[in-house]
Amino acid sequence: MSLPMVVAEPGLPSRVTVYEVGARDGLQNEKAIIPTEVKAAFVERLVAAGAPIVEATSFVHPKWVPQLADAAELMTGLVERLGDTARGMPVLVPNERGLDRALELGLRHAAVFASATETFANKNLNRGVESQFEMFEPTIARALDHGLDVRGYVSMCFGDPWEGAVPVAQVVEVGRRLLDLGCHQLSLGDTIGVATVGHVSALVGAFVDAGVGVDRLALHFHDTYGQALANVHAGLQSGVTTYDASAGGLGGCPYARSATGNLATEDLAWFLTGLGIEHGLDLGAYVETSRWMAEQLGRPSPSAVVRALADS
Ligand code: HMG
Ligand code: MG
Repeated sequence: MSLPMVVAEPGLPSRVTVYEVGARDGLQNEKAIIPTEVKAAFVERLVAAGAPIVEATSFVHPKWVPQLADAAELMTGLVERLGDTARGMPVLVPNERGLDRALELGLRHAAVFASATETFANKNLNRGVESQFEMFEPTIARALDHGLDVRGYVSMCFGDPWEGAVPVAQVVEVGRRLLDLGCHQLSLGDTIGVATVGHVSALVGAFVDAGVGVDRLALHFHDTYGQALANVHAGLQSGVTTYDASAGGLGGCPYARSATGNLATEDLAWFLTGLGIEHGLDLGAYVETSRWMAEQLGRPSPSAVVRALADS
């Protein structure tokens, strides 16, 4: 397998944490319902390929996301086979009902997902921006009481298909409120892939100006317009060291018009390797996993690196 030439760029972080979302953000958007055993095998292969964090599924309403209706069954099987590794996998929980379902299985990392815009809050959570916090407040408080870590996503950070441009200050306000409720990390979501490099620098800078350290930020890019890696570069230049990505570039959001695949983990790994930035992923094993997943889904991976390396 070929690897990129390594030429470091001064001033970038030396190590990055890749937060793998393929099993959740990827599979939530598949038209077909993937069998639970295929999802479990996917997650196990991602762990074996070195993914340090694998967001495994969502405890959301099964009618809203039928693709992940088997969350309890999936996590029960993973806990049986992987023990604490599986209990440490983050899962999405929008509300207390979702949290209860995660607690029943002894899971230790939850993620709530907020919207920066009114329209998407209504479409994704069935309530507006203000009332999403009424749902998150008791959910996060109880999660923290039980010793869980809670990640807070903010969606539509760069643009919204219904509302257009989203002001940076509006995103910072939603993010700050999640941190104030006790989230340990914020993942800033470019749900529809419209972020551009200057916008990424401006948004991260606005959080820093608001007193939020870059160590508390993660960036979550969808690659709709092919800008995701350039945006990672802007994030690295701003000092952000956690990036969400999805094996093979699976992904999207069923409630966001025009949301396509996430940044592919393999593309990210190739890019980081070329800069001499440590990420801990086994690129060969990752490509093999995405090739296998593409066979399960019956279509090729959109990742340029998967395609190039699978043929090499
Ligand atoms: P709702 O209908 O307003 O819920 O949905 P409710 O509180 O009114 O309850 C209605 C019924 O649902 C009740 O049952 C509840 O028990 C049940 P009934 O009493 O009628 O029999 N219920 C649940 N059942 C199972 N699990 C639950 C649950 N909650 C309620 N957790 C809700 C509100 C938030 C639940 C709904 O809108 C929902 O599930 N939304 C999820 C949408 C979603 O998963 N979207 C994709 C993830 S976000 C994303 O992809 C973006 C991201 O990647 C970042 C980015 O790219 O920007 C993270
Ligand atoms: Mg997403």
